[in-house]
Amino acid sequence: MNRLSAPLTPARSTGLHPNVTVIAHPLIQQKLTLARDRRTGVEQFRRLVGEIARLMVFEVCHDIPTQDVVVETPLAPCAGRRLAVEITLVPILRAGLGLAEGILELIPDARLGHLGVYRDEDTLEPVSYYSKLPPNVAQTDVVVLDPMLATGGSASAAITIIKRTGAKRIRFLCLVAAPEGIAAVTSTHPDVAIYTAAIDDHLNEKGYIVPGLGDAGDRLFGTH
Ligand code: PRP
Ligand code: URA
Repeated sequence: MNRLSAPLTPARSTGLHPNVTVIAHPLIQQKLTLARDRRTGVEQFRRLVGEIARLMVFEVCHDIPTQDVVVETPLAPCAGRRLAVEITLVPILRAGLGLAEGILELIPDARLGHLGVYRDEDTLEPVSYYSKLPPNVAQTDVVVLDPMLATGGSASAAITIIKRTGAKRIRFLCLVAAPEGIAAVTSTHPDVAIYTAAIDDHLNEKGYIVPGLGDAGDRLFGTH
């Protein structure tokens, strides 16, 4: 099988679903715990979200195809590797922007697509309001970004939009997932690898993840 068309492989699956990886690194868990704390203010929350995303992306990108190259060190030629594909980050607006900013510090040449999707507060159904993806997105490895996977409606809608371009290698990165959201995305998009820092207990009657971290967009942008 061609390396670039190989299915995505999760680094460590959870047992819940083979496509789902919980990244339980102590540094990530410590930062997530601080982000969850209701006393954490906008500035610190924003910094933590960026840092967690940056740490998580190592694992998320573990199977990005590479190609062999040779560089000249000051002493001798040296065999090395470089990425064989471009990476497209697709933050789901608004809250995904906080993750993208953190990751761009590590992958500054990543392409950036934006998808505006919000959840109707009454129906909890996703409403798509904006889409701007790089023209060659189908030839890139795509990482969809949203801190919260609650009902899974927003993530599923975003992935559907991206797939319409022909993109096939799509990963989804979130900080906190609800079992309901994982079930929704894995059934609608069984080919997408999901990476999360935590799987929480349940959704409440308003569709919020419990214990969760509250409204991620409001905490990132100070709109609460
Ligand atoms: C939040 C969050 C996800 C979505 C998750 O966004 O950032 O996009 O809800 O919920 P779901 O899995 O049930 O779809 P929200 O709709 O609050 O929009 P915002 O980012 O503009 O605040
Ligand atoms: N969106 C959020 O920001 N938080 C949740 O818990 C659910 C949806």
